[in-house]
Amino acid sequence: MKLAVVFHSVSGTTRQLAQAVAAGAATERGTDVLMAEIVGSDIVDGRFQNSTLLQQLSGADAIVFGSPTYMGCVSAQFKAFADATGELWAEQAWANKIAAGFTIGGNLSGDQLNTIQYLQVFAGQHGMLWAGLDIPGNYDPAKRNRLGAQSGLIAHSADGIVHKTDLLTAHYLGQRVARLAALSVTPGKLNGNARVLCKDPVWYAFHRGGL
Ligand SMILES: Cc1cc2nc3c(=O)[nH]c(=O)nc-3n(C[C@H](O)[C@H](O)[C@H](O)COP(=O)(O)O)c2cc1C
Repeated sequence: MKLAVVFHSVSGTTRQLAQAVAAGAATERGTDVLMAEIVGSDIVDGRFQNSTLLQQLSGADAIVFGSPTYMGCVSAQFKAFADATGELWAEQAWANKIAAGFTIGGNLSGDQLNTIQYLQVFAGQHGMLWAGLDIPGNYDPAKRNRLGAQSGLIAHSADGIVHKTDLLTAHYLGQRVARLAALSVTPGKLNGNARVLCKDPVWYAFHRGGL
């Protein structure tokens, strides 16, 4: 089973969470983990151009998405990546892969939930199966999910140091997604509704370089 963690990070806190997610997933036997970092040079003239990274993600059974919260949503670099998946969306190439998400913000309540909800919608557009956290905030002996969000991992750091329990939660999220992906059917088996190619000329022009 292959699990990918695709993320963007500028000052490194999202990267630390991504590493913890990957480490958690790697504890599950038979899981190959791919770390896929979105970097500035992937974006040329405002468009994400790293087709190798997109291909690698297409080969994964599960994808965990991570972005810092910037102005209440994912970073521009993450959104450029998301917009570049339009052709994959048209073919529902990622349908039935397990998906999950994480984010971090500089404020305790800095609208991080909107970032998670965007990631959830993005996964939904791809026909992916979203896995939230099954840790009720305030009731975990290890204090994981300290901020109490269950649709995904929300973390907070005011000083660039990632909280120990946010890293523990990220580690658990990786394990959970790996377990769920191992249980899920072989990707593609449920793909009855896929292969519907989009015919919209504006959409085509965007993705084929005309716009
Ligand atoms: C342009 C910009 C916008 C930001 N917007 C938010 C925000 O809306 N909410 C929040 O809590 N933190 C916000 N932050 C803080 C970052 O989310 C925080 O520093 C995060 O840890 C950065 O992640 P990174 O270390 O992976 O780059 C913003 C930071 C920048 C640079």
